[in-house]
Amino acid sequence: MSSSKGNLENYLIPLEEINLATKNFSLERFIGGGGFGKVYVGTLSERWQNCTAAIKRRAPDSYQGEDEFRNELHMILKFKHENIISFIGYCDEADEMIIVYEYATNGSLDHHLQYANKMCDITWTQRLKICLGAAKGLDYLHSGLGEHTRVIHRDFKSANILLDENLVAKICDFGLSKWGPKNQPITHLNTKVAGTQFYLDPAYHESHILRKESDVYSFGVVLFEMLSGMLVYSERSLGNKAAFLMTLVRQSDEKKVHELVDPHIRHQISSPSFFIIKEVAYQCISLNLKERPSMAIVIGKIEHALDIQGLPGSDVLTITDMCVGDFLILHPSKLKFPLELKKHSLCSLHLTNKTDQFIAFKIQTTTPLECNVRPNNGIILPRSVCNITVIKRAVKEAPPGMMCKSKFKVKAVVAPNGATTNNITNRMFDKEENKVVEEFTLRAIYIHVS
Ligand SMILES: Nc1ncnc2c1ncn2[C@@H]1O[C@H](COP(=O)(O)OP(=O)(O)O)[C@@H](O)[C@H]1O
Ligand SMILES: [Mg+2]
Repeated sequence: MSSSKGNLENYLIPLEEINLATKNFSLERFIGGGGFGKVYVGTLSERWQNCTAAIKRRAPDSYQGEDEFRNELHMILKFKHENIISFIGYCDEADEMIIVYEYATNGSLDHHLQYANKMCDITWTQRLKICLGAAKGLDYLHSGLGEHTRVIHRDFKSANILLDENLVAKICDFGLSKWGPKNQPITHLNTKVAGTQFYLDPAYHESHILRKESDVYSFGVVLFEMLSGMLVYSERSLGNKAAFLMTLVRQSDEKKVHELVDPHIRHQISSPSFFIIKEVAYQCISLNLKERPSMAIVIGKIEHALDIQGLPGSDVLTITDMCVGDFLILHPSKLKFPLELKKHSLCSLHLTNKTDQFIAFKIQTTTPLECNVRPNNGIILPRSVCNITVIKRAVKEAPPGMMCKSKFKVKAVVAPNGATTNNITNRMFDKEENKVVEEFTLRAIYIHVS
Protein backbone atom coordinates (compact mmCIF):
# COMPACT_ATOMS: atom_id res chain seq x y z
CA MET A 1 0.00 0.00 0.00
CA SER A 2 1.24 3.44 -0.76
CA SER A 3 0.17 5.63 2.16
CA SER A 4 1.14 4.77 5.68
CA LYS A 5 0.55 6.34 9.04
CA GLY A 6 3.89 5.08 10.21
CA ASN A 7 5.47 2.17 11.94
CA LEU A 8 3.33 -0.29 13.76
CA GLU A 9 5.67 -0.17 16.77
CA ASN A 10 4.57 3.40 17.45
CA TYR A 11 1.15 2.04 18.28
CA LEU A 12 2.20 -0.41 20.97
CA ILE A 13 0.16 -0.20 24.16
CA PRO A 14 1.53 -1.93 27.30
CA LEU A 15 -0.57 -4.77 28.67
CA GLU A 16 -0.59 -3.02 32.03
CA GLU A 17 -2.39 -0.07 30.50
CA ILE A 18 -4.99 -2.38 28.97
CA ASN A 19 -5.46 -4.32 32.20
CA LEU A 20 -6.15 -1.05 33.98
CA ALA A 21 -8.58 0.18 31.35
CA THR A 22 -10.60 -3.04 31.25
CA LYS A 23 -10.30 -3.79 34.99
CA ASN A 24 -8.45 -6.98 34.04
CA PHE A 25 -11.00 -7.78 31.36
CA SER A 26 -13.89 -7.78 33.78
CA LEU A 27 -17.35 -8.83 32.68
CA GLU A 28 -18.79 -5.39 33.35
CA ARG A 29 -16.52 -4.01 30.61
CA PHE A 30 -17.57 -6.60 28.06
CA ILE A 31 -19.40 -5.08 25.05
CA GLY A 32 -19.38 -7.66 22.28
CA GLY A 33 -17.71 -10.55 20.65
CA GLY A 34 -17.12 -12.40 17.42
CA GLY A 35 -14.86 -14.95 15.81
CA PHE A 36 -11.67 -13.36 17.14
CA GLY A 37 -12.60 -12.94 20.76
CA LYS A 38 -14.20 -10.61 23.23
CA VAL A 39 -14.39 -6.83 23.07
CA TYR A 40 -14.25 -4.60 26.15
CA VAL A 41 -14.73 -0.88 26.70
CA GLY A 42 -12.27 1.07 28.81
CA THR A 43 -10.72 4.48 29.34
CA LEU A 44 -7.04 4.80 28.56
CA SER A 45 -4.66 7.03 30.53
CA GLU A 46 -3.43 10.52 29.80
CA ARG A 47 -0.83 9.38 27.28
CA TRP A 48 -3.80 8.39 25.10
CA GLN A 49 -5.75 11.56 25.96
CA ASN A 50 -7.98 9.62 28.38
CA CYS A 51 -9.92 8.38 25.40
CA THR A 52 -12.60 5.72 25.67
CA ALA A 53 -11.55 2.73 23.63
CA ALA A 54 -12.91 -0.60 22.44
CA ILE A 55 -10.39 -3.31 23.21
CA LYS A 56 -10.55 -6.55 21.23
CA ARG A 57 -8.73 -9.48 22.77
CA ARG A 58 -8.15 -12.77 21.02
CA ALA A 59 -9.81 -15.66 22.83
CA PRO A 60 -7.40 -18.57 23.42
CA ASP A 61 -9.84 -20.96 21.75
CA SER A 62 -10.51 -18.74 18.73
CA TYR A 63 -10.12 -20.30 15.30
CA GLN A 64 -8.61 -16.98 14.29
CA GLY A 65 -5.02 -16.38 15.30
CA GLU A 66 -1.76 -14.58 14.53
CA ASP A 67 -2.56 -14.32 10.80
CA GLU A 68 -5.88 -12.55 11.27
CA PHE A 69 -4.36 -10.38 14.03
CA ARG A 70 -1.43 -9.19 11.89
CA ASN A 71 -3.69 -8.87 8.87
CA GLU A 72 -6.13 -6.59 10.67
CA LEU A 73 -3.31 -4.50 12.17
CA HIS A 74 -1.62 -3.92 8.85
CA MET A 75 -4.89 -2.98 7.23
CA ILE A 76 -6.30 -0.69 9.85
CA LEU A 77 -3.04 1.16 10.27
CA LYS A 78 -3.35 2.36 6.68
CA PHE A 79 -7.02 3.29 6.66
CA LYS A 80 -8.20 6.82 7.18
CA HIS A 81 -11.85 7.42 6.50
CA GLU A 82 -14.84 8.74 8.38
CA ASN A 83 -16.70 5.47 7.89
CA ILE A 84 -13.91 3.15 8.99
CA ILE A 85 -13.34 2.68 12.70
CA SER A 86 -10.15 4.45 13.88
CA PHE A 87 -7.21 2.50 15.15
CA ILE A 88 -5.65 3.49 18.47
CA GLY A 89 -3.08 0.80 19.11
CA TYR A 90 -2.34 -2.82 19.85
CA CYS A 91 -0.67 -5.14 22.30
CA ASP A 92 1.15 -8.40 21.65
CA GLU A 93 2.82 -8.84 25.02
CA ALA A 94 2.99 -12.29 26.55
CA ASP A 95 0.60 -14.44 24.53
CA GLU A 96 -1.92 -11.66 24.08
CA MET A 97 -3.23 -10.39 20.77
CA ILE A 98 -5.18 -7.20 21.41
CA ILE A 99 -6.34 -4.44 19.10
CA VAL A 100 -7.57 -1.10 20.43
CA TYR A 101 -10.00 1.08 18.50
CA GLU A 102 -11.97 4.24 18.97
CA TYR A 103 -15.14 3.30 20.87
CA ALA A 104 -18.40 3.53 18.93
CA THR A 105 -20.96 4.54 21.58
CA ASN A 106 -23.98 3.01 19.85
CA GLY A 107 -22.40 -0.39 19.35
CA SER A 108 -22.83 -2.56 16.30
CA LEU A 109 -25.86 -2.48 14.02
CA ASP A 110 -26.74 -6.14 14.66
CA HIS A 111 -27.42 -5.31 18.31
CA HIS A 112 -30.08 -2.86 17.14
CA LEU A 113 -31.54 -5.20 14.56
CA GLN A 114 -31.82 -7.90 17.17
CA TYR A 115 -34.29 -5.97 19.28
CA ALA A 116 -37.39 -4.43 17.67
CA ASN A 117 -37.68 -1.92 20.52
CA LYS A 118 -34.17 -0.62 19.72
CA MET A 119 -34.53 -0.65 15.95
CA CYS A 120 -37.88 1.16 15.96
CA ASP A 121 -36.09 4.27 17.25
CA ILE A 122 -33.98 4.40 14.11
CA THR A 123 -36.02 6.20 11.48
CA TRP A 124 -36.00 5.43 7.78
CA THR A 125 -33.92 8.55 7.10
CA GLN A 126 -31.40 7.53 9.76
CA ARG A 127 -31.28 4.04 8.28
CA LEU A 128 -30.58 5.50 4.87
CA LYS A 129 -27.77 7.61 6.35
CA ILE A 130 -26.29 4.58 8.10
CA CYS A 131 -26.38 2.64 4.82
CA LEU A 132 -24.83 5.59 3.02
CA GLY A 133 -21.96 5.76 5.54
CA ALA A 134 -21.35 2.02 5.31
CA ALA A 135 -21.45 2.23 1.50
CA LYS A 136 -18.87 5.02 1.54
CA GLY A 137 -16.65 2.98 3.85
CA LEU A 138 -16.83 -0.01 1.49
CA ASP A 139 -16.25 2.18 -1.55
CA TYR A 140 -13.13 3.55 0.15
CA LEU A 141 -11.82 0.00 0.61
CA HIS A 142 -12.68 -0.96 -2.96
CA SER A 143 -11.38 2.10 -4.72
CA GLY A 144 -10.21 4.84 -2.38
CA LEU A 145 -6.81 3.50 -1.35
CA GLY A 146 -4.83 4.81 -4.23
CA GLU A 147 -4.03 3.79 -7.73
CA HIS A 148 -2.83 0.28 -7.03
CA THR A 149 -4.64 -0.96 -3.99
CA ARG A 150 -8.01 -2.51 -3.41
CA VAL A 151 -9.24 -4.12 -0.23
CA ILE A 152 -12.07 -6.65 -0.10
CA HIS A 153 -13.61 -6.75 3.36
CA ARG A 154 -14.81 -10.35 3.08
CA ASP A 155 -16.93 -10.30 6.22
CA PHE A 156 -19.25 -7.38 5.67
CA LYS A 157 -22.37 -7.68 7.86
CA SER A 158 -24.37 -5.70 10.39
CA ALA A 159 -22.20 -7.01 13.24
CA ASN A 160 -19.24 -5.31 11.58
CA ILE A 161 -20.94 -1.93 11.19
CA LEU A 162 -20.51 0.21 14.28
CA LEU A 163 -22.48 3.32 15.11
CA ASP A 164 -20.97 6.32 16.85
CA GLU A 165 -22.83 8.76 19.08
CA ASN A 166 -24.38 10.43 16.01
CA LEU A 167 -25.27 7.10 14.39
CA VAL A 168 -22.49 7.55 11.84
CA ALA A 169 -21.58 4.13 10.44
CA LYS A 170 -18.03 2.85 10.93
CA ILE A 171 -16.94 -0.40 9.35
CA CYS A 172 -14.82 -2.64 11.57
CA ASP A 173 -13.25 -6.10 11.69
CA PHE A 174 -10.62 -6.53 9.00
CA GLY A 175 -9.27 -9.85 10.20
CA LEU A 176 -10.41 -11.64 7.05
CA SER A 177 -9.92 -8.75 4.62
CA LYS A 178 -7.70 -9.16 1.59
CA TRP A 179 -5.80 -6.52 -0.20
CA GLY A 180 -4.48 -6.75 -3.67
CA PRO A 181 -3.70 -4.82 -6.82
CA LYS A 182 -6.52 -2.84 -8.31
CA ASN A 183 -5.87 -2.42 -11.97
CA GLN A 184 -5.34 -5.95 -13.04
CA PRO A 185 -7.57 -7.09 -15.87
CA ILE A 186 -9.01 -9.77 -13.63
CA THR A 187 -9.32 -8.34 -10.17
CA HIS A 188 -10.08 -11.45 -8.29
CA LEU A 189 -8.36 -13.65 -5.77
CA ASN A 190 -8.58 -17.37 -5.40
CA THR A 191 -9.00 -18.00 -1.69
CA LYS A 192 -10.26 -20.33 0.93
CA VAL A 193 -13.88 -19.26 1.40
CA ALA A 194 -14.38 -17.14 4.50
CA GLY A 195 -17.15 -14.95 5.83
CA THR A 196 -20.45 -15.37 7.63
CA GLN A 197 -23.00 -17.77 6.21
CA PHE A 198 -26.06 -15.62 5.68
CA TYR A 199 -24.10 -12.75 4.19
CA LEU A 200 -21.88 -14.89 2.03
CA ASP A 201 -22.04 -14.43 -1.72
CA PRO A 202 -23.18 -17.76 -3.24
CA ALA A 203 -21.04 -17.09 -6.33
CA TYR A 204 -17.92 -16.78 -4.17
CA HIS A 205 -18.93 -19.82 -2.17
CA GLU A 206 -19.15 -21.85 -5.32
CA SER A 207 -16.15 -20.58 -7.26
CA HIS A 208 -13.74 -19.65 -4.43
CA ILE A 209 -12.94 -16.62 -6.51
CA LEU A 210 -13.10 -13.49 -4.44
CA ARG A 211 -14.10 -10.26 -6.08
CA LYS A 212 -15.26 -6.97 -4.65
CA GLU A 213 -18.73 -7.91 -5.90
CA SER A 214 -18.88 -10.35 -2.96
CA ASP A 215 -18.82 -7.39 -0.55
CA VAL A 216 -21.55 -5.81 -2.69
CA TYR A 217 -23.66 -8.95 -2.19
CA SER A 218 -23.22 -8.74 1.60
CA PHE A 219 -24.08 -5.05 1.46
CA GLY A 220 -27.34 -5.95 -0.30
CA VAL A 221 -28.20 -8.34 2.52
CA VAL A 222 -27.64 -5.53 5.04
CA LEU A 223 -29.93 -3.26 2.97
CA PHE A 224 -32.69 -5.87 3.32
CA GLU A 225 -32.01 -6.09 7.04
CA MET A 226 -32.46 -2.32 7.31
CA LEU A 227 -35.68 -2.35 5.26
CA SER A 228 -37.19 -5.19 7.24
CA GLY A 229 -35.75 -4.18 10.63
CA MET A 230 -34.66 -7.74 11.30
CA LEU A 231 -31.48 -9.78 11.26
CA VAL A 232 -30.92 -11.98 8.26
CA TYR A 233 -30.76 -15.09 10.42
CA SER A 234 -34.03 -14.57 12.21
CA GLU A 235 -37.30 -15.85 10.80
CA ARG A 236 -40.30 -13.83 9.74
CA SER A 237 -43.72 -14.79 8.49
CA LEU A 238 -45.21 -13.41 5.33
CA GLY A 239 -48.75 -14.56 4.62
CA ASN A 240 -48.86 -17.99 6.19
CA LYS A 241 -45.23 -18.90 5.62
CA ALA A 242 -42.37 -18.32 8.06
CA ALA A 243 -38.93 -18.26 6.57
CA PHE A 244 -35.54 -16.61 6.76
CA LEU A 245 -35.35 -13.09 5.45
CA MET A 246 -33.44 -13.81 2.24
CA THR A 247 -35.75 -16.70 1.36
CA LEU A 248 -38.69 -14.32 1.65
CA VAL A 249 -36.84 -11.68 -0.32
CA ARG A 250 -36.15 -14.11 -3.16
CA GLN A 251 -39.69 -15.49 -3.12
CA SER A 252 -41.47 -12.15 -2.98
CA ASP A 253 -42.58 -10.67 -6.23
CA GLU A 254 -42.27 -6.98 -6.65
CA LYS A 255 -45.81 -6.31 -5.54
CA LYS A 256 -45.33 -8.23 -2.33
CA VAL A 257 -41.90 -7.18 -1.18
CA HIS A 258 -43.14 -4.03 0.54
CA GLU A 259 -44.88 -6.34 3.02
CA LEU A 260 -41.44 -7.14 4.37
CA VAL A 261 -40.86 -3.53 5.39
CA ASP A 262 -40.42 -2.98 9.11
CA PRO A 263 -43.90 -1.99 10.40
CA HIS A 264 -42.27 0.66 12.61
CA ILE A 265 -41.11 2.69 9.64
CA ARG A 266 -43.82 1.95 7.07
CA HIS A 267 -45.51 5.28 7.65
CA GLN A 268 -42.20 7.14 7.24
CA ILE A 269 -40.99 5.71 3.95
CA SER A 270 -41.80 7.63 0.83
CA SER A 271 -42.48 5.16 -1.91
CA PRO A 272 -39.94 6.51 -4.44
CA SER A 273 -37.18 6.19 -1.84
CA PHE A 274 -38.39 2.69 -1.00
CA PHE A 275 -38.33 1.61 -4.63
CA ILE A 276 -34.86 3.00 -5.22
CA ILE A 277 -33.46 1.12 -2.22
CA LYS A 278 -35.38 -2.05 -2.94
CA GLU A 279 -34.15 -2.06 -6.52
CA VAL A 280 -30.52 -1.46 -5.67
CA ALA A 281 -30.71 -4.08 -2.91
CA TYR A 282 -31.98 -6.66 -5.41
CA GLN A 283 -29.21 -5.70 -7.82
CA CYS A 284 -26.61 -6.17 -5.06
CA ILE A 285 -27.82 -9.71 -4.31
CA SER A 286 -28.16 -10.69 -7.96
CA LEU A 287 -26.73 -14.13 -8.67
CA ASN A 288 -25.33 -12.64 -11.84
CA LEU A 289 -22.14 -10.80 -10.83
CA LYS A 290 -22.39 -8.45 -13.78
CA GLU A 291 -25.69 -7.10 -12.51
CA ARG A 292 -24.25 -6.07 -9.18
CA PRO A 293 -23.52 -2.34 -9.02
CA SER A 294 -20.23 -0.85 -7.87
CA MET A 295 -20.29 0.74 -4.43
CA ALA A 296 -19.97 4.14 -6.13
CA ILE A 297 -23.27 3.49 -7.92
CA VAL A 298 -24.86 2.26 -4.69
CA ILE A 299 -23.79 5.51 -2.99
CA GLY A 300 -25.47 7.54 -5.76
CA LYS A 301 -28.70 5.57 -5.35
CA ILE A 302 -28.82 5.97 -1.58
CA GLU A 303 -28.12 9.69 -1.89
CA HIS A 304 -30.94 9.96 -4.38
CA ALA A 305 -33.28 8.07 -2.04
CA LEU A 306 -32.30 10.44 0.78
CA ASP A 307 -32.95 13.51 -1.40
CA ILE A 308 -36.38 12.23 -2.36
CA GLN A 309 -37.19 11.21 1.18
CA GLY A 310 -36.46 14.76 2.31
CA LEU A 311 -38.84 16.41 -0.16
CA PRO A 312 -41.67 18.24 1.56
CA GLY A 313 -44.94 16.40 1.28
CA SER A 314 -43.34 13.15 0.21
CA ASP A 315 -44.28 11.58 3.53
CA VAL A 316 -47.86 11.25 2.32
CA LEU A 317 -46.73 8.72 -0.21
CA THR A 318 -46.28 5.88 2.20
CA ILE A 319 -46.16 2.32 1.06
CA THR A 320 -49.21 1.25 3.01
CA ASP A 321 -51.83 2.25 0.48
CA MET A 322 -50.73 1.95 -3.11
CA CYS A 323 -50.93 0.06 -6.40
CA VAL A 324 -47.65 -0.99 -7.95
CA GLY A 325 -47.10 -1.49 -11.65
CA ASP A 326 -44.08 -1.81 -13.90
CA PHE A 327 -43.83 1.92 -14.49
CA LEU A 328 -46.02 3.64 -11.96
CA ILE A 329 -46.98 3.48 -8.32
CA LEU A 330 -50.38 4.96 -7.53
CA HIS A 331 -51.28 6.47 -4.19
CA PRO A 332 -53.81 5.89 -2.85
CA SER A 333 -55.11 2.65 -4.29
CA LYS A 334 -58.72 3.91 -3.99
CA LEU A 335 -59.82 7.53 -4.36
CA LYS A 336 -61.50 8.92 -1.29
CA PHE A 337 -63.77 11.92 -1.67
CA PRO A 338 -64.59 13.75 1.57
CA LEU A 339 -68.36 14.17 1.54
CA GLU A 340 -69.75 17.65 2.16
CA LEU A 341 -73.28 17.98 0.81
CA LYS A 342 -73.83 20.52 -1.95
CA LYS A 343 -70.12 21.23 -2.26
CA HIS A 344 -67.47 20.11 -4.68
CA SER A 345 -65.35 17.36 -3.26
CA LEU A 346 -61.65 17.14 -3.92
CA CYS A 347 -59.02 14.45 -3.57
CA SER A 348 -55.43 13.86 -4.63
CA LEU A 349 -53.83 11.08 -6.54
CA HIS A 350 -50.05 10.72 -6.71
CA LEU A 351 -48.37 8.98 -9.60
CA THR A 352 -44.76 7.98 -8.94
CA ASN A 353 -42.57 7.06 -11.86
CA LYS A 354 -40.34 4.35 -10.44
CA THR A 355 -38.31 3.88 -13.62
CA ASP A 356 -35.30 5.64 -15.13
CA GLN A 357 -37.33 6.51 -18.21
CA PHE A 358 -39.78 9.25 -19.13
CA ILE A 359 -43.33 7.96 -18.63
CA ALA A 360 -46.45 9.33 -20.33
CA PHE A 361 -49.81 8.87 -18.60
CA LYS A 362 -53.44 9.60 -19.23
CA ILE A 363 -56.43 9.30 -16.93
CA GLN A 364 -60.02 8.77 -18.03
CA THR A 365 -63.06 8.58 -15.84
CA THR A 366 -66.31 6.71 -16.39
CA THR A 367 -68.19 9.83 -15.25
CA PRO A 368 -66.63 12.75 -17.15
CA LEU A 369 -69.56 15.02 -16.38
CA GLU A 370 -69.15 14.53 -12.66
CA CYS A 371 -65.38 14.41 -12.30
CA ASN A 372 -62.64 16.73 -13.41
CA VAL A 373 -59.15 15.29 -13.42
CA ARG A 374 -56.27 17.80 -13.41
CA PRO A 375 -54.05 17.13 -15.22
CA ASN A 376 -55.56 14.22 -17.07
CA ASN A 377 -52.38 13.50 -18.98
CA GLY A 378 -48.71 14.36 -18.84
CA ILE A 379 -45.11 13.23 -18.69
CA ILE A 380 -43.53 12.11 -15.43
CA LEU A 381 -39.78 12.46 -15.27
CA PRO A 382 -37.66 9.50 -14.10
CA ARG A 383 -38.06 8.77 -10.36
CA SER A 384 -40.46 11.66 -9.91
CA VAL A 385 -43.93 12.18 -8.61
CA CYS A 386 -46.87 13.83 -10.36
CA ASN A 387 -49.71 15.12 -8.20
CA ILE A 388 -53.21 14.89 -9.68
CA THR A 389 -56.28 16.61 -8.31
CA VAL A 390 -59.69 15.07 -8.88
CA ILE A 391 -62.70 17.31 -8.36
CA LYS A 392 -66.11 15.71 -7.97
CA ARG A 393 -69.37 17.57 -8.57
CA ALA A 394 -71.51 18.30 -5.52
CA VAL A 395 -74.17 15.84 -4.43
CA LYS A 396 -77.34 16.68 -2.49
CA GLU A 397 -77.43 13.64 -0.25
CA ALA A 398 -75.11 10.94 0.93
CA PRO A 399 -75.13 8.05 -1.54
CA PRO A 400 -76.13 4.60 -0.21
CA GLY A 401 -73.21 2.93 1.53
CA MET A 402 -71.06 6.00 0.71
CA MET A 403 -70.38 4.32 -2.61
CA CYS A 404 -69.17 6.36 -5.53
CA LYS A 405 -69.81 4.98 -8.97
CA SER A 406 -66.97 6.85 -10.69
CA LYS A 407 -64.05 4.78 -11.81
CA PHE A 408 -60.73 5.99 -13.12
CA LYS A 409 -58.59 4.35 -15.73
CA VAL A 410 -54.90 5.27 -15.60
CA LYS A 411 -52.75 4.30 -18.58
CA ALA A 412 -48.99 4.63 -18.73
CA VAL A 413 -46.40 4.03 -21.40
CA VAL A 414 -42.69 4.74 -21.88
CA ALA A 415 -42.16 8.06 -23.69
CA PRO A 416 -39.03 9.19 -25.56
CA ASN A 417 -36.39 10.85 -23.41
CA GLY A 418 -37.02 14.56 -23.12
CA ALA A 419 -40.71 14.25 -24.12
CA THR A 420 -43.08 16.96 -22.90
CA THR A 421 -46.85 17.12 -22.47
CA ASN A 422 -47.10 18.53 -26.01
CA ASN A 423 -45.79 15.24 -27.37
CA ILE A 424 -48.64 13.24 -25.90
CA THR A 425 -51.08 11.68 -28.31
CA ASN A 426 -53.94 9.25 -27.75
CA ARG A 427 -52.23 6.78 -30.06
CA MET A 428 -49.30 6.48 -27.68
CA PHE A 429 -51.52 4.46 -25.37
CA ASP A 430 -52.77 2.04 -28.02
CA LYS A 431 -51.74 -1.50 -27.41
CA GLU A 432 -49.38 -2.83 -30.04
CA GLU A 433 -47.11 -5.79 -30.24
CA ASN A 434 -43.88 -5.45 -28.22
CA LYS A 435 -45.18 -2.40 -26.44
CA VAL A 436 -46.16 -2.37 -22.79
CA VAL A 437 -49.11 -0.19 -21.91
CA GLU A 438 -49.74 -0.26 -18.21
CA GLU A 439 -53.34 0.06 -17.09
CA PHE A 440 -54.90 0.52 -13.67
CA THR A 441 -58.53 0.89 -12.71
CA LEU A 442 -59.12 2.90 -9.56
CA ARG A 443 -62.39 2.85 -7.68
CA ALA A 444 -63.66 5.64 -5.51
CA ILE A 445 -65.64 6.04 -2.30
CA TYR A 446 -66.96 8.87 -0.21
CA ILE A 447 -65.64 9.36 3.27
CA HIS A 448 -67.15 11.34 6.15
CA VAL A 449 -65.44 14.62 6.95
CA SER A 450 -64.39 14.66 10.55
N1 LIG B 1 -14.92 0.08 18.33
C1 LIG B 1 -15.99 -0.54 18.83
N2 LIG B 1 -16.94 0.15 19.49
C2 LIG B 1 -18.04 -0.48 19.98
N3 LIG B 1 -18.26 -1.81 19.87
C3 LIG B 1 -17.33 -2.55 19.23
C4 LIG B 1 -16.15 -1.97 18.68
N4 LIG B 1 -15.43 -2.93 18.09
C5 LIG B 1 -16.12 -4.07 18.24
N5 LIG B 1 -17.27 -3.86 18.93
C6 LIG B 1 -18.27 -4.90 19.27
O1 LIG B 1 -17.63 -6.16 19.34
C7 LIG B 1 -18.10 -7.03 18.28
C8 LIG B 1 -16.92 -7.84 17.75
O2 LIG B 1 -15.93 -7.00 17.20
P1 LIG B 1 -15.22 -7.32 15.82
O3 LIG B 1 -14.16 -6.31 15.55
O4 LIG B 1 -16.23 -7.50 14.78
O5 LIG B 1 -14.51 -8.70 16.19
P2 LIG B 1 -14.58 -10.16 15.61
O6 LIG B 1 -13.42 -10.26 14.68
O7 LIG B 1 -14.37 -11.01 16.82
O8 LIG B 1 -15.92 -10.35 14.96
C9 LIG B 1 -18.75 -6.10 17.27
O9 LIG B 1 -19.76 -6.77 16.53
C10 LIG B 1 -19.31 -5.02 18.17
O10 LIG B 1 -20.54 -5.44 18.75
MG1 LIG C 1 -16.98 -9.11 13.71
